[in-house]
Amino acid sequence: MSTHNIWIHKGTFLLAAVGSAVGLGNLWRFPYLAGENGGGAFFLVYALTIFAVGIPILIAETMLGRASRRSPIMGMRFLAHTHHTARAWTSIGWLGGLSAFLILSFYSVIAGWAIHYTWQMLTGTLAGADAETTAAGFDALLASPTLLTLYHTLFIIASGLVVGLGVHQGIERGLRVIMPALFVILLVVLAYGVTHGDFTAATDFLFTFNIADLSLAGWLEAMGQSFFTLSLGMGAIMAYGAYMSGEVSLTRTAIAIAVIDTAVAMVAGLAIFSLVFGAGLDAGQGPGLMFVTLPLAFAEMPGGSLIGGVFFVLVLGAALSSSISLIEPVAAYLVERFDLTRPQAVFIMVVATWALGLLTVVSFNLWAENSLFHELFGRSAFALFELLTNILMPLGGLLIALFAGWVLTHSEVMKEMRTNTTWFALWRFLVRFVAPAAVAFVFLRAIPQIDGYLIPAIGAVVIVGAFAAGRTFLTDDNQAP
Ligand code: PHE
Repeated sequence: MSTHNIWIHKGTFLLAAVGSAVGLGNLWRFPYLAGENGGGAFFLVYALTIFAVGIPILIAETMLGRASRRSPIMGMRFLAHTHHTARAWTSIGWLGGLSAFLILSFYSVIAGWAIHYTWQMLTGTLAGADAETTAAGFDALLASPTLLTLYHTLFIIASGLVVGLGVHQGIERGLRVIMPALFVILLVVLAYGVTHGDFTAATDFLFTFNIADLSLAGWLEAMGQSFFTLSLGMGAIMAYGAYMSGEVSLTRTAIAIAVIDTAVAMVAGLAIFSLVFGAGLDAGQGPGLMFVTLPLAFAEMPGGSLIGGVFFVLVLGAALSSSISLIEPVAAYLVERFDLTRPQAVFIMVVATWALGLLTVVSFNLWAENSLFHELFGRSAFALFELLTNILMPLGGLLIALFAGWVLTHSEVMKEMRTNTTWFALWRFLVRFVAPAAVAFVFLRAIPQIDGYLIPAIGAVVIVGAFAAGRTFLTDDNQAP
């Protein structure tokens, strides 16, 4: 028996998935990582991964959700059972749950920065400020664990309330306004960047491909970012796929999601880099890039306080529609497995993630250097979580590709995809061979280079742990039929 409701409107999945995909990953993470990794080569690996690996896995992950109609953990359990294959495949669900905790813990802290800037914009605090003042303002924000914790708390409570109270529908209606409006304001910022910044330098930076420029760590970051920006490989898409109407075409939906998501990242990237080069800022300055650059543009633009205020409100909307998709898979699992109510499940998830998020908070001040994390892992807690994200999401995607490509039957896939045999053959070739090989290739090159000897150990523990959990945690009476 399926335990899920199904969304009545055909377009709801697309809207929810775009809501999940478009968020801080496009506006904050893409420009900051591209900037740190020299631009063009990073962009090339990122874009290639999205189209050759991301889209096929997006189809695969949605398919697994829709075929099981359960939360990722229970769903993988069910599919492994009905296909008479190893229970270890449930590890896809467990890995996803782990990623959800890690990602949400820092996502919420960064979204908190947007709360700060919404406030600063609407009160006009930064109007007319120069580059030094805005940079100093950002540094002051980072230096305050109290402020960061406050904003982190506000954001995670808001996310929890949306999922816990089941007010997705309100969000859905909101998204129809938020997404187009966000895109329009980004275009306004881009236009400002073109006229007042250095657009040529921005296009040169992003589109001059010299693959030798990209370090091995950069390869891993570019691939990880493609998964991150599509919300791929950790169960969010699978959880939403479980609610998707059976009639909708997976192929077209997946392509639409990838195109929209990439368009937003590119406009954001071009706008930010035009401003960065125009104002002589440092493209490789790290996670603060967007928060130093855009407020500066709004400070100088006519009507900038208002436009900036609206912009940051929209950023928060986009971040919220992503964070709820991080809570959903874990919450749905807790509800299905332990018979909790939705609010109880969400409460557990949110409290645990909030606590973990404090490690990201102190990564920017108290434990910015010389912390325990630096000793053990050679980096701050935030940097460690980012690194783990870049490993866990492609790893989840790899397993999803293998399961969908090799375990699901031909007729099942045809039924889900509703496509002709050529597309089917192309998709199957990509999930069976290309996607796994691409992920494995990048892993084999980049992971041995990671400094901090505990990283490989953690990887091993995570994988073994996930498999063991998949085998033992669920007793037989919780098995799927
Ligand atoms: N894709 C989201 C973004 O770009 C982040 C996200 C990752 C959301 C994983 C859900 C799952 O902001």
